[in-house]
This record gives sequence, C-alpha cells and structure tokens, in this order.
Amino acid sequence: MGENSILKVENLTKIFKTGGLFFGKKFRAVDDVSFTLGGDSASIFTIVGESGCGKTTLARMILNLIEPTSGSIEILGKRVLELSSKERSRWLPRIIQPVFQNPFESFNPLRKVYPYLIHTAVNVAGVRDKYEAVERVNQALEAVRLSPDIADRSPYELSGGQVQRLSIARAIIPRPKLIVADEPVSMIDASLRMGILNIFKQLKEDLGINFIYITHDLATAYYISDRIAVMYKGSFAEIGEAEAIFREPLHPYTQLLIDSIPRVDRKWAGKVRVAVTEVEEYLLPGCKFADRCPYVMEICKKKAPPLTRTSGGVEVACWLYSDEKH
Ligand SMILES: Nc1ncnc2c1ncn2[C@@H]1O[C@H](COP(=O)(O)OP(=O)(O)O)[C@@H](O)[C@H]1O
Ligand code: SF4
Ligand SMILES: [Mg+2]
Repeated sequence: MGENSILKVENLTKIFKTGGLFFGKKFRAVDDVSFTLGGDSASIFTIVGESGCGKTTLARMILNLIEPTSGSIEILGKRVLELSSKERSRWLPRIIQPVFQNPFESFNPLRKVYPYLIHTAVNVAGVRDKYEAVERVNQALEAVRLSPDIADRSPYELSGGQVQRLSIARAIIPRPKLIVADEPVSMIDASLRMGILNIFKQLKEDLGINFIYITHDLATAYYISDRIAVMYKGSFAEIGEAEAIFREPLHPYTQLLIDSIPRVDRKWAGKVRVAVTEVEEYLLPGCKFADRCPYVMEICKKKAPPLTRTSGGVEVACWLYSDEKH
C-alpha cells in the first residue's frame, strides 16, 4: 500500500487549549492517530465513534482546515505542512474534497446553484473552456442523480437531501482522489440516507474516488465500509476490514458499540456497561477505556495498550491481545 498511498497519517495529535491563558486546560482531542489509505482499488474507510471523540477534529486536520499540534499528513507522498501556498490552494483541492454535515453551509442560500458549480469547475478544477465547464457540471449532477434543472434553483428551494447531493456534485467536479465526508447523512431525513450512501458506493466504483466516511452510526458504517476505525477519546481502539470487525469485534469498546445494535445472539451481551463519553482531559496513564471495561487488568491502569496486529489482520489497542510482556 505504501507506494501508491493516497493519504498517510502519522502520530497525528491535536491539543486544544481552553479557558484562560494561565489557568487554561489542555485537551487532547486527537491523540496519536496513524493510518494509511490507498491501494489498487478505491475504498471507503469509515471512522466511527461517539460524539466528542475527535472525529471532526481529525477530519479538519486532514482537510487542512486546522493545523495539527504534532504528527504528519502526507497526501500522494507530499507532506501537507510543507506545501507551498499555491499547492495548498490549487493542487490540494484537486486531490481531496470535503462533504460536510450541514449541506446548506456549502452554498450561499441566495445564489442559484448552477453558477456556483460552474465557478467550481473553472476556479477549483481549472477547466478553461466554457462548454467543457458546463459538461463537467452536468456530468457531476448526473453522477449524483440530479437533473440539471434543479441546479437552476436556489438552495432554499431544495430539500436537505437534494442540497447534500449538490454538495457531493460540487466535491466531485475537481475529480478528487479522496472525499472526506463528515457525518454527511446525519442531518438528512432517515428515508433519504441510503440514497446518499449509495451515491458514495457508486462514485467509488465508477470514478475510483476514495472516501473517508465519518459517522457515529454503526448501521450506516456497516452498510458502506470496506475498512473501519473505531475511535474512542481521540485514539483508534480498533482498525481493520469492516467485515472482520463486525463479525468479531475484538476491542471491548467495539463490542459495546456493536452490542448496542439490537441483536439477540451476541455472546458478550450485557457484559459491557454503557456510559456517555464525558469530555475530560486524558492525563491518566493507561487505557482510556479502563473505567468502563469489564476485563480491566492492573496493566490497563498503568500503561496505554499499543496497537497490536492480530492473526486476522485487525489492529487492536487492548492488552488482551498484546504479546508484549505486561
Ligand atoms: N476549537 C476547539 N476548541 C476547544 N475544544 C474543541 C474545539 N473543537 C473541538 N473541541 C473539543 O474536542 C473534542 C472533539 O470534538 P470533535 O472533533 O468535534 O468530536 P466529534 O466530531 O467526534 O463529535 C470535543 O470535546 C470538543 O469539545
Ligand atoms: S486494555 Fe484493558 S482496560 Fe483497555 S480495553 Fe483492553 S482489557 Fe479493557
Ligand atoms: Mg463531529
């Protein structure tokens, strides 16, 4: 994967300072996250976790919207922090594009959609020929299954689902290699969600676009993902093929999450206590899940578990699976 990786994230960390200058607290929203995306064919990588676990902060760093405190991001082999301002504004948007939770934020409500999309084709995608720009916009609308006349309206005349399709159309006009979609269906009417997720699948198959799909919802993660990472308090607890993780979740937190999807035949049902994630500083040593974990051991409170690759290929940060002497 290394050679043709699209995105390589290494030890990415974001610390927010809150409160005052002197008495403020430091909050580790993203804590030492590493992963690689890319391969022979396009794929959908899902980051799943409860609200507040750091998903949006991670997405915003990957999208170059906020600076990491430490760690590195490489896109097509180039370190993002070392890009020139021209590369940041011209090259990067042709490789990586966002889709946000609230589609209405992507568009000026008073402006008609079509000229906005043409503007994207000319200024972001760099299409110089007017007819080609029109063609590019029409192709994008077709790919998200919207008729071109819908774009002749203003966003406030359209439904949330339609505007989210438009924001996906806008994102694919520059023909990016990767789309980072942060909770793209959580504000959409439940009956329309699958339609949007099917568009992602189709864009992956037909146009070879990779996706980072960010969600708190395991059901949609199950539906759409090739690989998933389960995020807990800023760190990845488990990462691997979605099929393997849903079949046999290894990390006790993943078991808790999957257990919360109603199923009667789960052997671990009832073992893991459900609690709301509190916002707190992660200064305690050891495993972040120790206070909720039914399998907690002495080592768990003293030392953070390293990510360990299991024989099934899944990586899990839990002492239960580590060969390291403890
Ligand atoms: N600009 C900020 N300043 C301080 N804290 C922040 C800021 N942005 C996010 N946080 C905090 O970081 C944590 C992770 O937030 P976020 O990345 O939005 O999580 P998620 O998207 O998983 O819900 C939360 O506790 C949030 O309050
Ligand atoms: S490292 Fe220990 S506390 Fe953490 S999830 Fe594994 S068993 Fe539970
Ligand atoms: Mg979020």
